[in-house]
Amino acid sequence: MAKIIGGLTTSHIPAVGNAIARDMQQDDYWKPFFDAYPPIHEWLDKHKPDVAINIYNDHGLGFFLDQMPTFAIGAAHEYINEDEGWGIPVMPPFKGDARLSWHIIEGMVNDEFDITSCQELAVDHGFTVPMQLFWPGLGKNPNLPRAIPISANTVQHPIPTLKRALDFGKSLGRAIRSYPEDIKVVILGTGGLSHQLDGERAGFINREFDEMCMEKIVTDPEALTKISRHELVEKAGAQGTEFLMWMMMRGALGDKVNPLLKNYHIPISNTGAGTMLLECIDD
Ligand code: DHB
Ligand code: FE
Repeated sequence: MAKIIGGLTTSHIPAVGNAIARDMQQDDYWKPFFDAYPPIHEWLDKHKPDVAINIYNDHGLGFFLDQMPTFAIGAAHEYINEDEGWGIPVMPPFKGDARLSWHIIEGMVNDEFDITSCQELAVDHGFTVPMQLFWPGLGKNPNLPRAIPISANTVQHPIPTLKRALDFGKSLGRAIRSYPEDIKVVILGTGGLSHQLDGERAGFINREFDEMCMEKIVTDPEALTKISRHELVEKAGAQGTEFLMWMMMRGALGDKVNPLLKNYHIPISNTGAGTMLLECIDD
């Protein structure tokens, strides 16, 4: 049967993609951020997951305000990346796992989650930057897993509640664990933490709130479901709603996790950047 081995979180700031493209990881500005990743690479080298479920939020490349699914799951054999105008080099297509995608969609719809299935999907920086951070070199990296994108709406209100996001993850976890093939799966929850890119509060970052979220996502994710969407925007900024991705990831991991790595660094561009490696504990 398929096994979920752990969860990874990271911010997906496009400037990180630029720093990778220009080999700036050791510069003073970038080093405290990039230093979190080598221990994760070691863990991935040791466990070699076959599939990465990449939970991200599309920012207008795959979907736009005219058509905005609340929850969308990729069901393609490959996913293309296109130029969004950030100056990040366009990446070659990412290999999918359509069989597992359909198994997940089937399981989650049976579980009463209404899913938009996508047999074609362009993936943006929310998906590609984390893939590059965790598997440097992408196609040249022998450990690059097959990937399944899952996107939730954090852009156009009403967005899902934190409770719905955690419940989505729980259902996702059940669907993956019922897959009959013996594969190892890692779940990525990307985006966040606090940031606001526009309006009067542009540049807003809330370290205290981010640190509380990073603690509770390990020890008591249920407590985070008490935060309303309005409060999330107030405390984390308009784009801090990307924390929903972390909640979806966490739900899939089961009750107890072992936090093997935690890094928080501000500022990276306009964002509080959080990185975590949470290993699943077998029941
Ligand atoms: C930034 C952060 C994001 O989440 C994003 O999607 C784009 C830009 C930033 O901090 O620059
Ligand atoms: Fe974003």
